[in-house]
Amino acid sequence: MHYFGYKKGVLFCENVSVLDIVKEVGTPVYIYSAKTIRRHYKIFSDSFKEIPSLVCYSVKANSNIAILALLKKLGAGADVVSGGELKRALKAGISPQKIVFSGVGKTEEEIKMGLEKGILMFNVESLEELQVLGEIAKELKKMAYFALRVNPNVDSKTHPYIATGLRRSKFGIPEDLIIEAYKISLKNPYLKGIGLDVHIGSQLTSVEPFIETIKRLKNLWQELIQLGFELKYLDMGGGLGIVYENEEPPLPQEYAEIIIREVKDLGATLILEPGRVIVGNAGILVTKVLYTKSNLERNFVVVDAGMNDLIRPALYQAYHKIVPVEEKEEKEVIIDVVGPICESGDFFARERKLPLLKRGDLIAIMSAGAYGFVMSSNYNSRPRPAEVLVDGEEFYIIRRRENIEDLLNLESIPHAWNSS
Ligand code: LLP
Repeated sequence: MHYFGYKKGVLFCENVSVLDIVKEVGTPVYIYSAKTIRRHYKIFSDSFKEIPSLVCYSVKANSNIAILALLKKLGAGADVVSGGELKRALKAGISPQKIVFSGVGKTEEEIKMGLEKGILMFNVESLEELQVLGEIAKELKKMAYFALRVNPNVDSKTHPYIATGLRRSKFGIPEDLIIEAYKISLKNPYLKGIGLDVHIGSQLTSVEPFIETIKRLKNLWQELIQLGFELKYLDMGGGLGIVYENEEPPLPQEYAEIIIREVKDLGATLILEPGRVIVGNAGILVTKVLYTKSNLERNFVVVDAGMNDLIRPALYQAYHKIVPVEEKEEKEVIIDVVGPICESGDFFARERKLPLLKRGDLIAIMSAGAYGFVMSSNYNSRPRPAEVLVDGEEFYIIRRRENIEDLLNLESIPHAWNSS
């Protein structure tokens, strides 16, 4: 359940009319529901109550500082993948001891920052990274706590661009090198291995790949314990899917039950890194119809949002439900909803049945709370949209709309050219 619905024919987010938001903020605009985020977070974290666990929200899904602050209030930790995300999480008030640092390409500066801030652990993705982490830790005289990210060679059966558990993907360390890596870490007193980590992909809609993965991790865990390593954290990553169209992902409770059943005897503290399942269905992108046109073969609705604002359809052929902001009686027609960008991949829906739309109508692209704004760009010199957070009767602009000056401020013409 989420908090988007019609009241007297107008789309509301909680108790605020989308029309009121658009009147003040314009389009395109991302609108998020605070109540939905709270609800999703609570259901997710409560599902794991039975055993020691820490939910580290995956910041990359939606990293607006207000969203992070909201999640912090609920007790969330953070999974970060860059110095920027780490700064955001800290600025939102999340304790360093609730932050894990993932990612295959951490720079030396990022590692230093993590060590200096005293984060809970680094999820290390290669033997070379482990070596570098150890060297920097020694230099700074700070203990580096780490987990090794295992590549379990499991097929997560999701879109290939967001599947990460197969050997051919760049992620993690192959299972058969994990024990060796742990042994190598003993040579550096500043390295302290405290866990295992895995993330097999995103938008997973069945539990089987998770089960297969845990089984493999369990074996490794037990082997390492027998060798005398003091493991504490088992980080299961993120990946739980959501409903965009008619998928049937496991409920958080079902997902949790399976994981708990498998790991409860290990004595581990579980870490979960959910992203999409918390924020995906808590956000929409509202855009205005600029033009309608037909080219004999297809009917097009050209809107003022583009693939630079929401790239998921272009990049993954992702399905996002689209609804009019004001309910329509008109008959349904088959249309392509496209953006203004000069690329054929710039679409939000193809051959979609929608009520007849006309210039000036507003539509909402649903389930845009995760991997929406965060993946936006300035392609075609388009300032990025505003972000609005609704909470009950109130709405807050949590990121103002960019303007062209914001973009130009970062650029300069070489001085030498001034004289000619
Ligand atoms: N942990 C790690 C290490 C990750 O790489 C990710 C996502 C997550 C957690 C969170 O996964 P989630 O619970 O959100 O599935 N841009 C793509 C999704 C990329 C996911 C990348 N990693 C999309 O729009 O579908």
